[in-house]
Formats: sequence, C-alpha cells, structure tokens
Amino acid sequence: MHRPVIIDTDPGVDDFIALMLAKQSDRLEIRGVTTVAGNLPLEIVTQNALNIIDFLDLHVPVAKGASKPLKRQQESAEAFHGKGGLGGVVLPISQNRYVLQPAWDFIDEQARQAEGRLELIALGPLTNVATALLKYPDLKKRLKCITFMGGSTGGGNRTPYAEFNIWADPEAAQIVWESGIPLRMVGLDITLKGVLKAQDIQDVLRLEHPYTLVLRYLLEFLQQVNARVGQDFVPLHDALAVASVIDAQLLDYTLGCGIVETESEVYRGRTIVRKPLLENRQQPNVWVGLDVDREQFIHLLKGILQTGQTPNL
Ligand code: BDR
Ligand code: CA
Repeated sequence: MHRPVIIDTDPGVDDFIALMLAKQSDRLEIRGVTTVAGNLPLEIVTQNALNIIDFLDLHVPVAKGASKPLKRQQESAEAFHGKGGLGGVVLPISQNRYVLQPAWDFIDEQARQAEGRLELIALGPLTNVATALLKYPDLKKRLKCITFMGGSTGGGNRTPYAEFNIWADPEAAQIVWESGIPLRMVGLDITLKGVLKAQDIQDVLRLEHPYTLVLRYLLEFLQQVNARVGQDFVPLHDALAVASVIDAQLLDYTLGCGIVETESEVYRGRTIVRKPLLENRQQPNVWVGLDVDREQFIHLLKGILQTGQTPNL
C-alpha cells in the first residue's frame, strides 16, 4: 500500500539521495515537496528541488517555505554540500514553478485531504513544520506522524553539542517537539552508525538504475568532503531517514522525554532525551532511533534503487 508523505527538505546532497530513494520506493506516495532554507538559502534549495524532481521524473508539486528560521539568522552549510548545494552536480533547469501556496498552507491542505494518513518527512530545519503548527493549531490532529532527520543524544556536527538541522532553528524544533504529534527522530546517533564505507560505495555504484551516473558524482563528492575531516566513510543522513520510513523495522527506537535547548548560545540546538520517569514530569514525546543495522540499510538502499521493492530483512 502506498503511504502518503510530504517531504520537507533543503537540498543538499544527502537530501537529493533521500528524494531518489523515496521516488524509487513502491511504498511511498509523495504528495508534494516543501522547501526550507537550511543547507543553502531558500531560492537555491527551491530551484534545486524543482530540478531534482524533474530529473527524477517525479510529477509532484513543490511549495516554497521559510526563507529564515523563526528567530535566528539563516546560516548555510555550503561547505558540506558544494557550490550550488548538490556536490557540484549541475542539473538541467526545470521549467516548472513552485505552487503559489506557501509550504505551511500546502502541508495543512494535504493533511486535510489525506484524512489522518499523511506522514511528514522533515530533512531540514523544522521552520516550515513549526509555522504550519502555529498557523493551524488543529494540524497536529491531522498528521499521522513526523519523522525528522536531526538532533543527537551524543555530540553534534554543527557545534560540539548540536546537530545542524536542530541548531539552525531550535525554536521551531521546540514547537514541533511540544506538539504532541508522534515523532520519530533520526539523529546523528544512528546516521553515524548507518554509514557507507568505500567498498559499499563501490557496490552501490555497480548497480544499474536510471540514476547511476549522478549517484556516482554525489557519493564521490561526499567521500571527498568526509575525507577532509578525517572520515573514511560516508553518512547519508537524510537518506537514512527516508529509509526508516520505508521500512519501520530498520531502526531500533526508544521512547523518551525530549527537550531542545533554546536559551544558551553555547548549547543552542542541543537535544536532550531522558527516560520517561515519574520525576521528569514530562510526557514522553519522541521516539529516538538508537540503533541501525548498517548492512541492512545498505541492502535496502541497493534493493530499492534497483527494483523499487523493499527487500526482506
Ligand atoms: C543534516 O544537515 C544537513 O546538512 C544535511 O542535509 C542533513 O539534513 C545532517 O546534520
Ligand atoms: Ca537536509
């Protein structure tokens, strides 16, 4: 059965691979893509999204969202995604335009139409999702769940304490975390476990599918970027988040009481998740992905890219 999803994204090299995976999977029905300023400014990530969607031969609407975080300045991550944001890959410019509705109106409208079945997959800062929840307080009753790539229960990648997507807009993350919507966090804890090593990359690149050549450029770019920081492996953060939606068995989760640091500048965007204990006085609000079987993720990635089907675990 196809599950209706909206992908909120800031492409981004790993966002691109995530969209590729979502497109290929026979389990997801992408109802639309919404864009948010994150890895690069909004105009650039929106044009990237339009170009990617054309390239993937996906016929879905793109709705443009927030150009800056709720209360902070926008700061890009171009160093990790290359000039233009797609690792130097230059796609043909799409002739399509984004829809006139902003991302938050589009999300709410789609949630109404899907009558409780719509899932959100958030691959960038949570600004659009928070704005939608502020504008449409009942939206929380209409969304089935949100899976987001972001946060960490260990160290960060943007600062020693915070992961980039949550760091970029901690106030938005806080609103989403307090919404009561079932949340699944695919944080650095597991995206740094579900990595591709050199041999895996060779194996993935041997597969034949419509995107082989572009995937080669993207993965080789990521290898270089990670080599610069002394890592001989490649995390595919956003692609792992999409894979976890395609196959609910891929990750092990624990339910916790989570908060996002918004006050301190040093700890800005740090995510803290505690066990649900009585003395916490907080309802559990987030399922945190704690473990992933790396081999299974790669198996899944290869299977879906090649056939669209989710191989049995
Ligand atoms: C996240 O930050 C972005 O740069 C990536 O696209 C991913 O969503 C990883 O921390
Ligand atoms: Ca992203």
